[in-house]
Amino acid sequence: MKVLVTGGLGFIGSHTVVELQKEGYQVVIIDNLSNSSIEVLDGIVAITGKKPIFEQLDLRDKTKVQGFFKQHQDIKGVIHFAASKAVGESVKKPLLYYENNINTLVYVLQELEKLEIANFIFSSSCTVYGQAEKMPITESAPVQKAESPYGNTKQIGEEIIQDTCKINPKVQAIALRYFNPIGAHQSVKIGELPIGVPQNLIPYITQTAGGIREQLSVFGDDYPTPDGTCIRDYIHVVDVAIAHVIALQRLLATKNEINFEVFNLGTGTGSSVLEVIESFERVSGEKLNYKIVARREGDVISAFADTQKANKYLGWKTELTLDDAMLSAWKWQQSLNKD
Ligand code: WQD
Repeated sequence: MKVLVTGGLGFIGSHTVVELQKEGYQVVIIDNLSNSSIEVLDGIVAITGKKPIFEQLDLRDKTKVQGFFKQHQDIKGVIHFAASKAVGESVKKPLLYYENNINTLVYVLQELEKLEIANFIFSSSCTVYGQAEKMPITESAPVQKAESPYGNTKQIGEEIIQDTCKINPKVQAIALRYFNPIGAHQSVKIGELPIGVPQNLIPYITQTAGGIREQLSVFGDDYPTPDGTCIRDYIHVVDVAIAHVIALQRLLATKNEINFEVFNLGTGTGSSVLEVIESFERVSGEKLNYKIVARREGDVISAFADTQKANKYLGWKTELTLDDAMLSAWKWQQSLNKD
């Protein structure tokens, strides 16, 4: 059975392609390589021994998208990762984010409608909750005004899918709201490849320990949390990838109760920045060079998932721990340093 993964050479996309291939699906990847590299394809093959079909294509080109779907009318499902995802960059370049994250979603959905391909999995984000009132955060927590154009594109994306599913019962969709995906595949063949200075905590930690960055800056320790640093729900990327396959299989087996469902993907446990650093030092044996600096604009104090809905309806829960994720991230960084 053929499944399309857009953004399939990206961080979460590539890990999901591996899990799809392990389940016996034939995978077609579309990626424009704007935030990924072709070597990731070799990493996937090295893990599974199977080469996905790869099309380098920019989904902002509507004609190319139409041409692609004409070629692949036997696609049974689509997992849509392709999007720009740097919160800070989105503030500086809003139109690039609206064009790349919204237009591409519309063009893909238009083709799904035309070909009557149901089964659409959308890569969403916990950023839609903003600073939620109550922890842990459930899927019924109110979506709050986005703090960045990036977060807004995820909110708008979910609304576009909601409206499409409302009018077209043939489109079956699930949005997965990730918390903080981290780590790398245990094979050390694929992992996170941040371009330039990492915005996210874990790659900055591993690059600091790997001697690429001088020192980690911890953005504030004066928050109303037990140790003063922000709390997040750090989830191993392999657990996130497995959840995508399970969500797709839910749609393929028409087990979904309504034709647009939303699930949080998290561990259900919050970890502070200092706890993440402590986990890294414990599993790596490295002493991390860091200093406390001022808060970062736009950071929420705390965000971690209520996982009951995904546990119950997807029959999915995380298997890997924060330590597993930090060790895999460190091994991945060490392998990158060798190249
Ligand atoms: C985590 C914590 C920082 C870097 C990201 C994505 C967002 C969504 C969720 C995809 C915060 C602190 C960070 C550093 C630090 N993912 N930090 N020093 O902001 O929770 O959101 O994951 O949809 O789009 O942006 O992740 O890793 O940037 O920050 O102290 O050098 O680490 O203040 O408390 P965030 P992050």
